[in-house]
Amino acid sequence: QKRRDFAGLCCLVTAGATRETIDPVRFLSNRSSGKMGMAIAEELRDRGGQVTLILGPTHLEPPCGLEIVRVESAQDMYHAVMEREANADMIVKTAAVADYRPVATSEHKVKKQAGNLMLELERTPDILQELGMRKRPGQLLVGFAAETQDLDRYALDKLHRKHLDLVVANDVSKADAGFAVDTNAVRIYDASGLLAATPLLSKREVARTIVNHMCDRWRRNQDE
Ligand code: C5P
Repeated sequence: QKRRDFAGLCCLVTAGATRETIDPVRFLSNRSSGKMGMAIAEELRDRGGQVTLILGPTHLEPPCGLEIVRVESAQDMYHAVMEREANADMIVKTAAVADYRPVATSEHKVKKQAGNLMLELERTPDILQELGMRKRPGQLLVGFAAETQDLDRYALDKLHRKHLDLVVANDVSKADAGFAVDTNAVRIYDASGLLAATPLLSKREVARTIVNHMCDRWRRNQDE
Protein backbone atom coordinates (compact mmCIF):
# COMPACT_ATOMS: atom_id res chain seq x y z
CA GLN A 1 0.00 0.00 0.00
CA LYS A 2 1.51 3.28 -1.20
CA ARG A 3 1.41 6.42 0.86
CA ARG A 4 -0.52 9.14 -0.97
CA ASP A 5 1.42 11.94 0.68
CA PHE A 6 1.61 14.01 -2.54
CA ALA A 7 -2.14 13.91 -3.25
CA GLY A 8 -3.25 17.05 -5.05
CA LEU A 9 0.25 18.51 -5.31
CA CYS A 10 1.41 19.85 -8.65
CA CYS A 11 4.88 18.47 -9.45
CA LEU A 12 7.09 19.59 -12.32
CA VAL A 13 9.96 17.25 -13.20
CA THR A 14 12.55 17.67 -15.94
CA ALA A 15 14.53 14.73 -17.27
CA GLY A 16 17.01 13.71 -19.91
CA ALA A 17 19.60 15.51 -21.95
CA THR A 18 19.09 18.43 -24.30
CA ARG A 19 20.26 18.64 -27.91
CA GLU A 20 21.93 21.76 -29.20
CA THR A 21 21.85 21.93 -32.97
CA ILE A 22 25.05 22.48 -34.98
CA ASP A 23 23.57 21.88 -38.44
CA PRO A 24 20.68 19.82 -39.88
CA VAL A 25 22.41 16.52 -39.08
CA ARG A 26 24.53 17.26 -35.99
CA PHE A 27 24.02 18.28 -32.39
CA LEU A 28 25.80 18.55 -29.02
CA SER A 29 24.38 16.47 -26.20
CA ASN A 30 25.37 14.31 -23.21
CA ARG A 31 24.92 10.81 -21.81
CA SER A 32 21.78 11.40 -19.75
CA SER A 33 19.01 8.90 -20.57
CA GLY A 34 16.22 10.45 -18.50
CA LYS A 35 15.92 7.33 -16.30
CA MET A 36 16.47 9.08 -12.95
CA GLY A 37 13.94 11.83 -13.70
CA MET A 38 11.40 9.32 -14.97
CA ALA A 39 11.80 7.26 -11.79
CA ILE A 40 11.17 10.37 -9.67
CA ALA A 41 8.13 11.28 -11.80
CA GLU A 42 6.74 7.74 -11.32
CA GLU A 43 7.30 7.82 -7.57
CA LEU A 44 5.54 11.21 -7.26
CA ARG A 45 2.67 9.92 -9.45
CA ASP A 46 2.26 6.78 -7.35
CA ARG A 47 2.07 8.89 -4.20
CA GLY A 48 -0.76 11.00 -5.61
CA GLY A 49 1.11 13.87 -7.28
CA GLN A 50 -0.16 15.60 -10.44
CA VAL A 51 3.03 15.25 -12.44
CA THR A 52 4.21 17.08 -15.54
CA LEU A 53 7.40 15.63 -17.01
CA ILE A 54 9.43 17.85 -19.31
CA LEU A 55 11.51 15.39 -21.23
CA GLY A 56 14.50 15.80 -23.52
CA PRO A 57 15.09 13.43 -26.45
CA THR A 58 15.22 9.78 -25.31
CA HIS A 59 14.51 6.37 -26.81
CA LEU A 60 12.91 5.24 -23.55
CA GLU A 61 9.16 4.97 -23.22
CA PRO A 62 7.96 7.69 -20.83
CA PRO A 63 5.82 6.60 -17.85
CA CYS A 64 2.03 6.69 -18.19
CA GLY A 65 -0.34 8.63 -15.96
CA LEU A 66 1.49 11.92 -16.25
CA GLU A 67 1.58 14.84 -18.62
CA ILE A 68 4.59 14.56 -20.95
CA VAL A 69 6.05 17.62 -22.62
CA ARG A 70 8.76 16.82 -25.18
CA VAL A 71 11.53 19.33 -25.69
CA GLU A 72 14.77 19.34 -27.60
CA SER A 73 17.10 22.23 -26.72
CA ALA A 74 17.93 23.98 -23.43
CA GLN A 75 16.01 26.99 -24.77
CA ASP A 76 12.90 24.80 -25.39
CA MET A 77 13.20 23.38 -21.87
CA TYR A 78 13.56 26.88 -20.43
CA HIS A 79 10.27 27.97 -22.05
CA ALA A 80 8.43 24.77 -21.13
CA VAL A 81 9.48 25.16 -17.47
CA MET A 82 8.81 28.89 -17.22
CA GLU A 83 5.30 28.50 -18.66
CA ARG A 84 4.48 26.08 -15.86
CA GLU A 85 6.59 27.07 -12.85
CA ALA A 86 4.04 29.42 -11.27
CA ASN A 87 1.54 26.56 -10.85
CA ALA A 88 4.04 24.08 -9.47
CA ASP A 89 4.19 23.21 -5.78
CA MET A 90 7.49 21.50 -6.37
CA ILE A 91 10.03 21.42 -9.16
CA VAL A 92 12.64 18.70 -9.58
CA LYS A 93 15.32 19.53 -12.12
CA THR A 94 16.83 16.16 -12.95
CA ALA A 95 17.60 17.06 -16.57
CA ALA A 96 21.19 17.29 -17.74
CA VAL A 97 20.75 20.62 -19.51
CA ALA A 98 23.50 21.66 -21.92
CA ASP A 99 25.53 24.52 -20.47
CA TYR A 100 26.67 25.68 -23.92
CA ARG A 101 25.19 25.78 -27.41
CA PRO A 102 26.66 26.75 -30.78
CA VAL A 103 26.52 30.52 -31.32
CA ALA A 104 25.36 29.93 -34.88
CA THR A 105 23.32 27.08 -36.33
CA SER A 106 24.15 26.28 -39.92
CA GLU A 107 21.18 26.01 -42.27
CA HIS A 108 23.09 23.50 -44.40
CA LYS A 109 25.31 20.60 -43.43
CA VAL A 110 28.78 21.82 -42.48
CA LYS A 111 31.18 20.48 -45.13
CA LYS A 112 34.41 18.69 -44.35
CA GLN A 113 37.45 20.83 -45.01
CA ALA A 114 41.22 20.73 -44.57
CA GLY A 115 42.54 21.59 -41.11
CA ASN A 116 40.72 22.15 -37.83
CA LEU A 117 37.21 23.43 -37.40
CA MET A 118 36.38 26.00 -34.71
CA LEU A 119 32.95 25.79 -33.09
CA GLU A 120 32.07 28.82 -31.01
CA LEU A 121 29.77 28.13 -28.06
CA GLU A 122 27.67 30.41 -25.88
CA ARG A 123 26.00 29.84 -22.51
CA THR A 124 22.43 28.54 -22.41
CA PRO A 125 19.99 30.04 -19.90
CA ASP A 126 20.41 28.48 -16.44
CA ILE A 127 16.87 27.29 -15.79
CA LEU A 128 17.45 26.30 -12.18
CA GLN A 129 19.10 29.61 -11.34
CA GLU A 130 16.09 31.46 -12.76
CA LEU A 131 13.68 29.21 -10.80
CA GLY A 132 15.65 29.95 -7.63
CA MET A 133 15.21 33.67 -8.23
CA ARG A 134 11.46 33.33 -8.92
CA LYS A 135 10.77 30.89 -6.09
CA ARG A 136 7.65 31.72 -4.13
CA PRO A 137 7.21 30.96 -0.39
CA GLY A 138 6.48 27.32 0.24
CA GLN A 139 7.52 26.15 -3.23
CA LEU A 140 10.02 23.31 -3.18
CA LEU A 141 12.99 23.39 -5.51
CA VAL A 142 15.25 20.36 -5.99
CA GLY A 143 18.39 20.39 -8.13
CA PHE A 144 20.83 17.73 -9.21
CA ALA A 145 24.58 17.83 -9.35
CA ALA A 146 26.52 15.39 -11.48
CA GLU A 147 30.15 15.69 -10.53
CA THR A 148 33.28 13.66 -10.92
CA GLN A 149 35.13 15.15 -7.93
CA ASP A 150 34.57 17.17 -4.73
CA LEU A 151 30.88 16.15 -4.58
CA ASP A 152 30.01 17.75 -1.23
CA ARG A 153 31.58 21.09 -1.93
CA TYR A 154 30.07 21.53 -5.41
CA ALA A 155 26.65 20.29 -4.31
CA LEU A 156 26.36 22.65 -1.35
CA ASP A 157 27.71 25.53 -3.39
CA LYS A 158 24.98 24.87 -5.97
CA LEU A 159 22.31 24.69 -3.29
CA HIS A 160 23.23 28.10 -1.90
CA ARG A 161 23.89 29.79 -5.22
CA LYS A 162 20.64 28.65 -6.83
CA HIS A 163 18.44 28.95 -3.68
CA LEU A 164 17.53 25.24 -3.67
CA ASP A 165 15.75 23.39 -0.87
CA LEU A 166 17.49 20.13 -1.68
CA VAL A 167 20.33 19.08 -3.91
CA VAL A 168 20.99 15.51 -4.99
CA ALA A 169 24.55 14.71 -6.00
CA ASN A 170 25.76 11.69 -7.89
CA ASP A 171 29.29 10.76 -8.67
CA VAL A 172 29.16 10.12 -12.40
CA SER A 173 32.72 8.79 -12.45
CA LYS A 174 31.53 5.56 -10.77
CA ALA A 175 30.75 2.72 -13.19
CA ASP A 176 27.28 1.75 -11.93
CA ALA A 177 26.02 5.19 -10.91
CA GLY A 178 24.72 8.11 -12.88
CA PHE A 179 24.21 8.32 -16.61
CA ALA A 180 22.25 5.74 -18.63
CA VAL A 181 22.49 2.80 -16.17
CA ASP A 182 19.63 1.40 -14.06
CA THR A 183 21.33 1.95 -10.71
CA ASN A 184 22.52 4.99 -8.83
CA ALA A 185 24.06 6.06 -5.53
CA VAL A 186 23.35 9.58 -4.38
CA ARG A 187 24.02 12.05 -1.60
CA ILE A 188 21.16 14.33 -0.58
CA TYR A 189 21.77 17.73 1.06
CA ASP A 190 19.78 20.63 2.44
CA ALA A 191 21.14 23.97 3.63
CA SER A 192 22.33 22.38 6.88
CA GLY A 193 24.47 19.82 5.05
CA LEU A 194 24.35 16.11 4.21
CA LEU A 195 20.97 14.48 4.94
CA ALA A 196 21.50 11.02 3.45
CA ALA A 197 23.88 8.94 1.39
CA THR A 198 22.39 5.90 -0.34
CA PRO A 199 24.19 2.71 -1.29
CA LEU A 200 24.01 1.55 -4.92
CA LEU A 201 20.28 1.00 -5.53
CA SER A 202 17.88 0.80 -8.45
CA LYS A 203 16.91 4.25 -9.70
CA ARG A 204 13.36 3.57 -8.53
CA GLU A 205 14.62 2.94 -4.98
CA VAL A 206 16.81 6.04 -5.14
CA ALA A 207 13.74 7.98 -6.31
CA ARG A 208 11.81 6.76 -3.26
CA THR A 209 14.53 8.03 -0.93
CA ILE A 210 14.68 11.41 -2.68
CA VAL A 211 10.89 11.76 -2.63
CA ASN A 212 10.82 10.86 1.10
CA HIS A 213 13.20 13.75 1.77
CA MET A 214 11.11 16.01 -0.46
CA CYS A 215 8.06 15.11 1.59
CA ASP A 216 9.78 16.03 4.88
CA ARG A 217 11.04 19.29 3.43
CA TRP A 218 7.64 20.14 1.88
CA ARG A 219 5.90 19.69 5.24
CA ARG A 220 8.49 21.84 6.98
CA ASN A 221 8.21 24.58 4.29
CA GLN A 222 4.45 24.70 4.81
CA ASP A 223 4.87 25.16 8.57
CA GLU A 224 7.37 28.01 8.18
O1 C5P B 1 25.37 24.09 -12.11
P1 C5P B 1 24.97 22.81 -12.78
O2 C5P B 1 24.61 22.98 -14.23
O3 C5P B 1 25.94 21.70 -12.55
O4 C5P B 1 23.64 22.40 -12.01
C1 C5P B 1 22.95 21.24 -12.34
C2 C5P B 1 21.51 21.46 -12.02
O5 C5P B 1 21.09 22.64 -12.72
C3 C5P B 1 20.59 20.36 -12.50
O6 C5P B 1 19.51 20.26 -11.60
C4 C5P B 1 20.15 20.85 -13.88
O7 C5P B 1 18.91 20.33 -14.26
C5 C5P B 1 20.11 22.35 -13.68
N1 C5P B 1 20.44 23.15 -14.87
C6 C5P B 1 19.48 23.97 -15.43
N2 C5P B 1 19.78 24.75 -16.52
C7 C5P B 1 21.01 24.74 -17.05
C8 C5P B 1 22.02 23.93 -16.48
C9 C5P B 1 21.70 23.14 -15.39
O8 C5P B 1 18.35 23.96 -14.95
N3 C5P B 1 21.27 25.51 -18.11
